[in-house]
Amino acid sequence: MNAIILAGGYGTRLRPITCSIPKPMLPVVNKPLLNFIISKLMQETPGLKKIVIAVNYRAHDIDAYMKEWQKAVSCEIHVQDERKPLGTGGALKFSQKLLEDDSFFMLNGDVVSYFSYKDMLAQHKKTKAVATISAIRVPDVSRYGVLVSDRNDTIIREFYEKPKTTELIKKYSSYPVNAGTYLLEPAIFDYITPEKKVSIEKDVFPHVAKKRMAHKFEFSGIWKDFGLPEEYLAGNFIILEEETRRLGAENIMHPSVKLGKGTIIKAPVCFDENVTIGDKCVIGPHVVLGKDCEVGDNVKLSESVFLENCSIDDDNDIIKVIMGDGVNTGTNVQLIGPAILGSNVYIEDQVMLKAMANQTVKVCPWVTITAESVEHSGSNGAFIH
Ligand code: GDD
Ligand code: MG
Repeated sequence: MNAIILAGGYGTRLRPITCSIPKPMLPVVNKPLLNFIISKLMQETPGLKKIVIAVNYRAHDIDAYMKEWQKAVSCEIHVQDERKPLGTGGALKFSQKLLEDDSFFMLNGDVVSYFSYKDMLAQHKKTKAVATISAIRVPDVSRYGVLVSDRNDTIIREFYEKPKTTELIKKYSSYPVNAGTYLLEPAIFDYITPEKKVSIEKDVFPHVAKKRMAHKFEFSGIWKDFGLPEEYLAGNFIILEEETRRLGAENIMHPSVKLGKGTIIKAPVCFDENVTIGDKCVIGPHVVLGKDCEVGDNVKLSESVFLENCSIDDDNDIIKVIMGDGVNTGTNVQLIGPAILGSNVYIEDQVMLKAMANQTVKVCPWVTITAESVEHSGSNGAFIH
């Protein structure tokens, strides 16, 4: 078998942290998202011949990471750079020559799921589908592709991408959605026009469904698409809980971590290499601290993810924040998210920043936040430049 991972796309909804890190390389519990996707793929498909990574945005970052993977595994890894985004179907067509010799998995590069690929493969072989599409039930179908089929049947009658109007949402809300993992036969290439921007969801799957050659593989359990800031936080926490259960709270912590006197840790949390935390802090639940992060005394952190090398000064209180690498805060800072701070933001002493209901505060990289800048932006979820 072969596999292709879609790792292009700008990750616009996760800006500004995706300005410097492509979405598939964003850390999830201190490991790149791609690490989870590839590890699972390798575990469940031992006979894999080739993995193609379809990239464009910040291709060199992903290429460098995959060179490390190639040293560790025997299957061939090909990083295919489209230069300009060709869409999910166009990116697949671009790699036809590498994939047309066998059945293959196609995986969205921003999704983590825990269902069995082996079971999916068994169903795919049995039904002789051209496309088997993983399916899950969600409360809100409007962000996803809807898979319509008859009761007790796996054949997909209709594929409808992202229903937006109230009427359409109502019409499709009783069906499962596309979970972003596919098993495909080389016959899929006959449905895609070459050298064009093509969406597999809008331009390809609806036609395969019309021919009754698309099947759903429904599962329940852990599944997350990392598209939005709140999904990035929630996804980190789901995996944090899962890894804590699997490995034990002490084993997901790097042995070099230093904790001060009187500091309370509320599991689940994960701290990477060289993390230091001062005295009398309360850290957790749901806190991920990247490599070389430094936390002062009397700091409260919860429901937040910090990338590498952040420095949090004394007496801070931080909730629901995604911090890019190298962010620094002064003393007595209060941050109540949801908020995403770009890399190297500096927050001065005494600043209080709070997101308004249903909004996310976004701060551009290398910005200094002062009490005056918060006052001007109204701290209402605006992009602070
Ligand atoms: N190489 C390449 N080129 N990759 C791309 C391109 C492109 O032009 N455009 C998007 N991708 C990658 C993204 O990086 C992501 O890994 C994947 O394709 C899906 O794109 P998203 O932009 O994240 O799509 P979505 O989340 O809105 O919707 C998709 O995923 C849902 C499940 O998570 C659709 O497949 C939905 O039908 C599905 O329900
Ligand atoms: Mg997505």
